[in-house]
Amino acid sequence: MYRKIIFICFITVLSLFSKELITPIPLNPDFNYKKALLGKKLFFDKKLSHDNTISCASCHFIEDGGDDNLPVSFGIDGKTGTRNSPTVLNARYNATQFWDGSAKNLADQAKGPIHNPVEMGSNFEEVILKLKKEKDYVNEFSLLYKNGISGLNITDAIAEFEKTLTTPNSRFDKFLRGYTKALTQDEFNGYKAFKEYGCISCHNGINIGGNLLQKIGVLEYYSTDDFGRFNITKDSNDKFYFKVPSLRNIELTAPYFHDGQTKTLKDAVEKMIKHQIGYLLEDKEVENIIKFLKTLTGDTPKIIKDTNEKINN
Ligand code: HEC
Ligand code: HEC
Repeated sequence: MYRKIIFICFITVLSLFSKELITPIPLNPDFNYKKALLGKKLFFDKKLSHDNTISCASCHFIEDGGDDNLPVSFGIDGKTGTRNSPTVLNARYNATQFWDGSAKNLADQAKGPIHNPVEMGSNFEEVILKLKKEKDYVNEFSLLYKNGISGLNITDAIAEFEKTLTTPNSRFDKFLRGYTKALTQDEFNGYKAFKEYGCISCHNGINIGGNLLQKIGVLEYYSTDDFGRFNITKDSNDKFYFKVPSLRNIELTAPYFHDGQTKTLKDAVEKMIKHQIGYLLEDKEVENIIKFLKTLTGDTPKIIKDTNEKINN
Protein backbone atom coordinates (compact mmCIF):
# COMPACT_ATOMS: atom_id res chain seq x y z
CA MET A 1 0.00 0.00 0.00
CA TYR A 2 2.72 2.49 1.00
CA ARG A 3 4.36 1.83 -2.35
CA LYS A 4 1.22 2.94 -4.17
CA ILE A 5 1.08 6.16 -2.14
CA ILE A 6 4.75 6.89 -2.78
CA PHE A 7 4.21 6.16 -6.45
CA ILE A 8 1.22 8.49 -6.76
CA CYS A 9 3.12 11.25 -4.88
CA PHE A 10 6.09 10.75 -7.20
CA ILE A 11 3.95 11.17 -10.31
CA THR A 12 2.12 14.18 -8.85
CA VAL A 13 5.39 15.92 -7.96
CA LEU A 14 6.78 15.05 -11.38
CA SER A 15 3.77 16.53 -13.15
CA LEU A 16 3.88 19.70 -11.05
CA PHE A 17 7.46 20.37 -12.02
CA SER A 18 7.40 19.56 -15.69
CA LYS A 19 4.92 20.38 -18.39
CA GLU A 20 5.66 17.16 -20.20
CA LEU A 21 6.51 13.97 -18.33
CA ILE A 22 8.55 12.87 -21.31
CA THR A 23 11.69 14.67 -22.46
CA PRO A 24 13.51 14.36 -25.81
CA ILE A 25 16.79 12.51 -26.29
CA PRO A 26 19.76 14.92 -26.48
CA LEU A 27 21.09 15.39 -29.99
CA ASN A 28 24.75 15.19 -28.97
CA PRO A 29 25.22 12.64 -26.20
CA ASP A 30 28.45 12.87 -24.22
CA PHE A 31 30.93 9.99 -24.16
CA ASN A 32 34.67 9.36 -24.15
CA TYR A 33 35.44 8.63 -27.78
CA LYS A 34 38.54 6.50 -27.35
CA LYS A 35 37.09 4.36 -24.59
CA ALA A 36 33.93 3.96 -26.68
CA LEU A 37 36.01 2.71 -29.64
CA LEU A 38 37.64 0.11 -27.44
CA GLY A 39 34.20 -0.75 -26.05
CA LYS A 40 32.86 -1.20 -29.56
CA LYS A 41 35.56 -3.72 -30.35
CA LEU A 42 34.73 -5.64 -27.17
CA PHE A 43 30.98 -5.50 -27.84
CA PHE A 44 31.49 -7.29 -31.17
CA ASP A 45 34.20 -9.67 -29.94
CA LYS A 46 33.17 -13.31 -29.54
CA LYS A 47 36.21 -13.95 -27.36
CA LEU A 48 34.16 -12.60 -24.50
CA SER A 49 32.35 -15.96 -24.53
CA HIS A 50 33.76 -19.28 -23.32
CA ASP A 51 33.79 -21.00 -26.72
CA ASN A 52 34.34 -17.86 -28.85
CA THR A 53 30.92 -18.15 -30.52
CA ILE A 54 28.86 -15.36 -28.94
CA SER A 55 29.39 -11.62 -28.64
CA CYS A 56 27.20 -8.99 -27.05
CA ALA A 57 26.08 -8.17 -30.59
CA SER A 58 24.77 -11.74 -31.05
CA CYS A 59 21.77 -10.85 -28.86
CA HIS A 60 21.68 -7.08 -29.34
CA PHE A 61 21.44 -6.08 -33.01
CA ILE A 62 22.37 -2.43 -32.86
CA GLU A 63 20.99 -1.57 -36.28
CA ASP A 64 17.73 -3.43 -35.77
CA GLY A 65 16.20 -2.22 -32.54
CA GLY A 66 19.05 -3.25 -30.20
CA ASP A 67 17.44 -6.59 -29.26
CA ASP A 68 17.43 -9.97 -31.05
CA ASN A 69 13.80 -10.36 -32.16
CA LEU A 70 13.48 -13.73 -30.40
CA PRO A 71 11.21 -14.64 -27.47
CA VAL A 72 14.31 -15.67 -25.47
CA SER A 73 17.95 -15.56 -26.57
CA PHE A 74 20.39 -18.31 -27.49
CA GLY A 75 23.72 -18.37 -25.68
CA ILE A 76 26.70 -20.73 -26.01
CA ASP A 77 25.98 -24.38 -26.93
CA GLY A 78 22.49 -23.35 -28.05
CA LYS A 79 21.42 -22.79 -24.43
CA THR A 80 18.42 -20.58 -23.89
CA GLY A 81 17.62 -18.15 -21.12
CA THR A 82 14.21 -17.36 -19.70
CA ARG A 83 13.87 -13.68 -20.48
CA ASN A 84 13.49 -11.58 -23.60
CA SER A 85 16.54 -9.56 -24.64
CA PRO A 86 15.81 -5.89 -23.99
CA THR A 87 17.24 -3.24 -26.26
CA VAL A 88 20.66 -1.71 -25.64
CA LEU A 89 19.55 1.43 -27.48
CA ASN A 90 19.16 4.35 -25.08
CA ALA A 91 19.95 1.98 -22.19
CA ARG A 92 22.20 4.73 -20.81
CA TYR A 93 19.03 6.57 -19.84
CA ASN A 94 17.59 3.71 -17.75
CA ALA A 95 17.83 4.23 -13.99
CA THR A 96 18.72 0.54 -13.58
CA GLN A 97 19.48 -2.34 -15.95
CA PHE A 98 17.91 -5.83 -16.36
CA TRP A 99 14.24 -6.68 -16.18
CA ASP A 100 14.48 -6.87 -12.40
CA GLY A 101 16.60 -3.72 -12.06
CA SER A 102 19.40 -5.75 -10.52
CA ALA A 103 22.29 -3.87 -12.18
CA LYS A 104 22.81 -0.30 -11.10
CA ASN A 105 24.51 0.88 -14.29
CA LEU A 106 25.78 -0.26 -17.68
CA ALA A 107 29.24 -1.31 -16.51
CA ASP A 108 27.73 -3.35 -13.68
CA GLN A 109 25.29 -4.90 -16.19
CA ALA A 110 28.02 -5.96 -18.65
CA LYS A 111 29.53 -8.34 -16.06
CA GLY A 112 26.28 -10.32 -16.17
CA PRO A 113 26.25 -11.83 -19.68
CA ILE A 114 30.00 -12.62 -19.64
CA HIS A 115 29.48 -14.78 -16.53
CA ASN A 116 25.98 -16.08 -17.28
CA PRO A 117 26.25 -19.83 -18.08
CA VAL A 118 23.40 -19.67 -20.63
CA GLU A 119 24.74 -16.54 -22.34
CA MET A 120 28.54 -16.19 -22.76
CA GLY A 121 29.45 -18.79 -20.09
CA SER A 122 32.83 -17.30 -19.32
CA ASN A 123 34.49 -15.24 -16.58
CA PHE A 124 36.87 -12.30 -16.33
CA GLU A 125 39.92 -14.48 -15.70
CA GLU A 126 39.37 -16.43 -18.91
CA VAL A 127 38.55 -13.33 -20.98
CA ILE A 128 41.53 -11.36 -19.65
CA LEU A 129 43.89 -14.24 -20.54
CA LYS A 130 42.58 -14.25 -24.10
CA LEU A 131 42.74 -10.48 -24.52
CA LYS A 132 46.26 -10.32 -23.11
CA LYS A 133 47.42 -12.48 -26.02
CA GLU A 134 46.52 -9.68 -28.43
CA LYS A 135 49.00 -6.87 -28.81
CA ASP A 136 46.39 -4.36 -29.92
CA TYR A 137 44.21 -4.91 -26.87
CA VAL A 138 47.22 -4.74 -24.53
CA ASN A 139 48.28 -1.43 -26.09
CA GLU A 140 44.83 0.08 -26.21
CA PHE A 141 43.96 -0.79 -22.63
CA SER A 142 47.28 0.45 -21.30
CA LEU A 143 46.83 3.78 -23.08
CA LEU A 144 43.36 4.30 -21.68
CA TYR A 145 43.61 2.69 -18.24
CA LYS A 146 46.41 2.87 -15.68
CA ASN A 147 46.12 -0.81 -14.78
CA GLY A 148 45.63 -2.10 -18.33
CA ILE A 149 43.31 -5.06 -19.01
CA SER A 150 41.02 -5.83 -16.07
CA GLY A 151 37.43 -6.90 -15.56
CA LEU A 152 36.39 -3.43 -14.46
CA ASN A 153 38.13 -1.80 -17.42
CA ILE A 154 36.51 -4.20 -19.89
CA THR A 155 33.04 -3.36 -18.60
CA ASP A 156 33.87 0.35 -18.33
CA ALA A 157 34.84 0.47 -22.02
CA ILE A 158 31.75 -1.49 -23.08
CA ALA A 159 29.54 0.90 -21.08
CA GLU A 160 31.22 3.84 -22.79
CA PHE A 161 30.39 2.36 -26.19
CA GLU A 162 26.79 1.78 -25.12
CA LYS A 163 26.57 5.48 -24.29
CA THR A 164 26.91 6.15 -28.04
CA LEU A 165 23.83 4.04 -28.82
CA THR A 166 21.09 6.63 -28.65
CA THR A 167 18.24 7.26 -31.05
CA PRO A 168 17.45 10.99 -31.18
CA ASN A 169 15.13 12.76 -33.59
CA SER A 170 12.03 10.59 -33.34
CA ARG A 171 8.95 12.40 -34.64
CA PHE A 172 7.66 12.55 -31.10
CA ASP A 173 10.86 14.24 -29.89
CA LYS A 174 10.47 16.79 -32.69
CA PHE A 175 6.95 17.39 -31.43
CA LEU A 176 8.27 17.84 -27.88
CA ARG A 177 10.79 20.36 -29.19
CA GLY A 178 7.93 22.46 -30.51
CA TYR A 179 7.37 21.22 -34.05
CA THR A 180 3.67 20.46 -33.60
CA LYS A 181 3.22 19.27 -37.19
CA ALA A 182 5.52 16.32 -36.49
CA LEU A 183 2.48 14.29 -35.37
CA THR A 184 -0.70 13.55 -37.33
CA GLN A 185 -4.03 14.12 -35.60
CA ASP A 186 -4.42 10.38 -34.88
CA GLU A 187 -0.92 10.19 -33.37
CA PHE A 188 -1.59 13.24 -31.25
CA ASN A 189 -4.86 11.72 -30.06
CA GLY A 190 -2.93 8.55 -29.26
CA TYR A 191 -0.54 10.57 -27.10
CA LYS A 192 -3.52 12.18 -25.36
CA ALA A 193 -5.02 8.76 -24.65
CA PHE A 194 -1.61 7.54 -23.43
CA LYS A 195 -1.68 10.35 -20.88
CA GLU A 196 -5.37 10.21 -20.01
CA TYR A 197 -5.49 6.46 -19.42
CA GLY A 198 -2.38 6.63 -17.25
CA CYS A 199 0.13 4.74 -19.40
CA ILE A 200 2.37 7.73 -18.72
CA SER A 201 2.24 7.16 -14.96
CA CYS A 202 4.59 4.22 -15.53
CA HIS A 203 6.11 4.99 -18.92
CA ASN A 204 7.63 8.45 -18.51
CA GLY A 205 10.92 10.31 -18.43
CA ILE A 206 13.49 10.50 -21.19
CA ASN A 207 13.14 6.79 -22.03
CA ILE A 208 9.36 6.66 -21.67
CA GLY A 209 10.11 3.92 -19.15
CA GLY A 210 13.31 2.63 -17.62
CA ASN A 211 13.04 4.64 -14.41
CA LEU A 212 10.64 2.57 -12.27
CA LEU A 213 9.93 -0.98 -11.25
CA GLN A 214 6.25 -1.84 -11.38
CA LYS A 215 4.06 -4.85 -11.02
CA ILE A 216 2.86 -6.67 -14.13
CA GLY A 217 -0.78 -7.46 -13.44
CA VAL A 218 -1.82 -4.50 -11.30
CA LEU A 219 -5.49 -5.00 -12.18
CA GLU A 220 -5.58 -8.49 -13.54
CA TYR A 221 -3.15 -11.32 -12.85
CA TYR A 222 -0.59 -11.86 -15.60
CA SER A 223 0.41 -15.50 -15.87
CA THR A 224 4.20 -15.97 -15.59
CA ASP A 225 6.65 -18.24 -13.77
CA ASP A 226 9.05 -15.35 -13.28
CA PHE A 227 8.78 -13.49 -9.98
CA GLY A 228 10.91 -10.60 -11.26
CA ARG A 229 12.32 -8.33 -8.56
CA PHE A 230 11.33 -10.86 -5.87
CA ASN A 231 14.08 -13.20 -7.11
CA ILE A 232 16.60 -10.56 -6.01
CA THR A 233 15.08 -9.20 -2.79
CA LYS A 234 12.99 -12.17 -1.55
CA ASP A 235 10.51 -9.56 -0.34
CA SER A 236 6.99 -10.79 -1.10
CA ASN A 237 5.93 -7.20 -1.94
CA ASP A 238 8.27 -7.43 -4.91
CA LYS A 239 6.58 -10.40 -6.58
CA PHE A 240 5.96 -9.76 -10.30
CA TYR A 241 7.73 -6.39 -10.21
CA PHE A 242 9.68 -5.70 -13.37
CA LYS A 243 11.43 -2.70 -14.76
CA VAL A 244 8.96 -0.64 -16.76
CA PRO A 245 10.62 -0.94 -20.17
CA SER A 246 11.43 1.98 -22.42
CA LEU A 247 8.90 2.45 -25.22
CA ARG A 248 11.37 4.16 -27.53
CA ASN A 249 11.72 2.28 -30.87
CA ILE A 250 9.09 -0.10 -29.58
CA GLU A 251 7.86 -1.03 -33.08
CA LEU A 252 11.31 -2.56 -33.72
CA THR A 253 11.62 -4.73 -30.63
CA ALA A 254 8.95 -7.43 -30.86
CA PRO A 255 8.32 -9.86 -29.24
CA TYR A 256 7.35 -8.11 -26.03
CA PHE A 257 7.39 -8.39 -22.22
CA HIS A 258 9.96 -10.10 -20.02
CA ASP A 259 8.86 -13.51 -21.32
CA GLY A 260 8.87 -12.56 -25.00
CA GLN A 261 5.50 -14.27 -25.43
CA THR A 262 3.65 -11.36 -27.05
CA LYS A 263 4.26 -11.13 -30.77
CA THR A 264 2.69 -7.86 -31.90
CA LEU A 265 2.59 -4.32 -30.61
CA LYS A 266 -1.20 -4.43 -30.79
CA ASP A 267 -1.32 -7.47 -28.49
CA ALA A 268 1.17 -5.80 -26.12
CA VAL A 269 -0.94 -2.65 -25.88
CA GLU A 270 -4.12 -4.66 -25.38
CA LYS A 271 -2.48 -6.66 -22.59
CA MET A 272 -1.32 -3.44 -20.92
CA ILE A 273 -4.86 -2.09 -21.07
CA LYS A 274 -6.22 -5.29 -19.55
CA HIS A 275 -3.58 -5.95 -16.89
CA GLN A 276 -2.42 -2.44 -15.95
CA ILE A 277 -5.22 0.02 -16.80
CA GLY A 278 -8.54 -1.77 -16.51
CA TYR A 279 -10.57 0.59 -18.73
CA LEU A 280 -12.45 -0.52 -21.80
CA LEU A 281 -11.00 1.41 -24.74
CA GLU A 282 -12.60 1.85 -28.14
CA ASP A 283 -10.81 0.23 -31.07
CA LYS A 284 -9.99 3.65 -32.50
CA GLU A 285 -8.32 4.71 -29.25
CA VAL A 286 -6.19 1.56 -29.21
CA GLU A 287 -5.25 2.19 -32.85
CA ASN A 288 -4.25 5.75 -32.05
CA ILE A 289 -2.10 4.68 -29.11
CA ILE A 290 -0.28 2.27 -31.42
CA LYS A 291 0.16 5.03 -34.01
CA PHE A 292 1.57 7.26 -31.27
CA LEU A 293 3.97 4.52 -30.14
CA LYS A 294 5.27 4.25 -33.69
CA THR A 295 6.33 7.92 -33.59
CA LEU A 296 8.88 6.96 -30.91
CA THR A 297 11.27 5.44 -33.44
CA GLY A 298 14.39 7.59 -33.66
CA ASP A 299 17.50 7.65 -35.84
CA THR A 300 19.38 4.33 -35.96
CA PRO A 301 22.61 4.87 -34.04
CA LYS A 302 25.63 5.31 -36.26
CA ILE A 303 28.21 2.88 -34.98
CA ILE A 304 31.22 5.07 -34.22
CA LYS A 305 34.20 4.67 -36.51
CA ASP A 306 37.86 5.13 -35.86
CA THR A 307 38.84 7.36 -38.71
CA ASN A 308 42.53 6.80 -38.02
CA GLU A 309 42.15 3.07 -37.43
CA LYS A 310 43.97 3.51 -34.13
CA ILE A 311 42.86 4.26 -30.63
CA ASN A 312 46.28 5.54 -29.64
CA ASN A 313 46.77 8.74 -31.57
C1 HEC B 1 22.75 -14.76 -25.14
C2 HEC B 1 22.18 -13.47 -25.40
C3 HEC B 1 22.81 -12.24 -24.77
C4 HEC B 1 24.14 -11.88 -24.81
C5 HEC B 1 25.31 -12.63 -25.41
C6 HEC B 1 24.20 -10.57 -24.18
N1 HEC B 1 22.96 -10.18 -23.79
FE1 HEC B 1 22.47 -8.42 -22.96
N2 HEC B 1 20.69 -9.16 -22.45
C7 HEC B 1 20.17 -10.38 -22.85
C8 HEC B 1 18.99 -10.68 -22.07
C9 HEC B 1 18.12 -11.92 -22.20
C10 HEC B 1 18.83 -9.60 -21.16
C11 HEC B 1 17.76 -9.48 -20.08
C12 HEC B 1 18.18 -10.32 -18.91
C13 HEC B 1 17.42 -10.03 -17.64
O1 HEC B 1 16.91 -8.93 -17.46
O2 HEC B 1 17.37 -10.92 -16.78
C14 HEC B 1 19.90 -8.64 -21.46
C15 HEC B 1 20.03 -7.40 -20.86
C16 HEC B 1 20.95 -6.45 -21.26
C17 HEC B 1 20.95 -5.06 -20.87
C18 HEC B 1 19.92 -4.38 -19.98
C19 HEC B 1 18.94 -3.56 -20.76
C20 HEC B 1 17.77 -3.15 -19.92
O3 HEC B 1 16.96 -2.35 -20.38
O4 HEC B 1 17.60 -3.65 -18.80
C21 HEC B 1 22.05 -4.47 -21.44
C22 HEC B 1 22.48 -3.03 -21.34
C23 HEC B 1 22.76 -5.52 -22.16
N3 HEC B 1 22.04 -6.70 -22.05
C24 HEC B 1 23.99 -5.39 -22.77
C25 HEC B 1 24.78 -6.50 -23.09
C26 HEC B 1 26.23 -6.46 -23.24
C27 HEC B 1 27.10 -5.25 -23.08
C28 HEC B 1 26.61 -7.74 -23.57
C29 HEC B 1 28.02 -8.26 -23.78
C30 HEC B 1 28.95 -8.14 -22.66
C31 HEC B 1 25.40 -8.53 -23.63
N4 HEC B 1 24.33 -7.76 -23.30
C32 HEC B 1 25.36 -9.87 -24.00
C33 HEC B 1 20.72 -11.18 -23.80
C34 HEC B 1 22.08 -11.19 -24.11
C1 HEC C 1 1.37 0.28 -13.57
C2 HEC C 1 2.43 0.53 -14.53
C3 HEC C 1 2.15 0.46 -16.01
C4 HEC C 1 1.13 1.06 -16.72
C5 HEC C 1 0.02 1.92 -16.20
C6 HEC C 1 1.37 0.73 -18.10
N1 HEC C 1 2.48 -0.04 -18.23
FE1 HEC C 1 3.26 -0.76 -19.96
N2 HEC C 1 4.58 -1.86 -18.90
C7 HEC C 1 4.72 -1.86 -17.52
C8 HEC C 1 5.61 -2.92 -17.12
C9 HEC C 1 6.02 -3.26 -15.70
C10 HEC C 1 6.00 -3.59 -18.31
C11 HEC C 1 6.90 -4.82 -18.41
C12 HEC C 1 6.07 -6.00 -18.01
C13 HEC C 1 6.74 -7.31 -18.22
O1 HEC C 1 7.48 -7.51 -19.17
O2 HEC C 1 6.46 -8.22 -17.43
C14 HEC C 1 5.34 -2.87 -19.41
C15 HEC C 1 5.51 -3.20 -20.76
C16 HEC C 1 4.92 -2.51 -21.81
C17 HEC C 1 5.13 -2.79 -23.21
C18 HEC C 1 6.08 -3.85 -23.76
C19 HEC C 1 7.48 -3.30 -23.82
C20 HEC C 1 8.55 -4.29 -24.14
O3 HEC C 1 9.65 -3.86 -24.54
O4 HEC C 1 8.36 -5.49 -23.99
C21 HEC C 1 4.37 -1.91 -23.94
C22 HEC C 1 4.27 -1.80 -25.44
C23 HEC C 1 3.65 -1.10 -22.98
N3 HEC C 1 4.01 -1.49 -21.70
C24 HEC C 1 2.75 -0.10 -23.31
C25 HEC C 1 1.86 0.46 -22.38
C26 HEC C 1 0.70 1.24 -22.74
C27 HEC C 1 0.29 1.63 -24.15
C28 HEC C 1 0.05 1.57 -21.57
C29 HEC C 1 -1.28 2.26 -21.41
C30 HEC C 1 -2.39 1.61 -22.08
C31 HEC C 1 0.85 1.00 -20.49
N4 HEC C 1 1.93 0.32 -21.02
C32 HEC C 1 0.56 1.13 -19.14
C33 HEC C 1 4.09 -1.00 -16.66
C34 HEC C 1 2.98 -0.24 -16.98
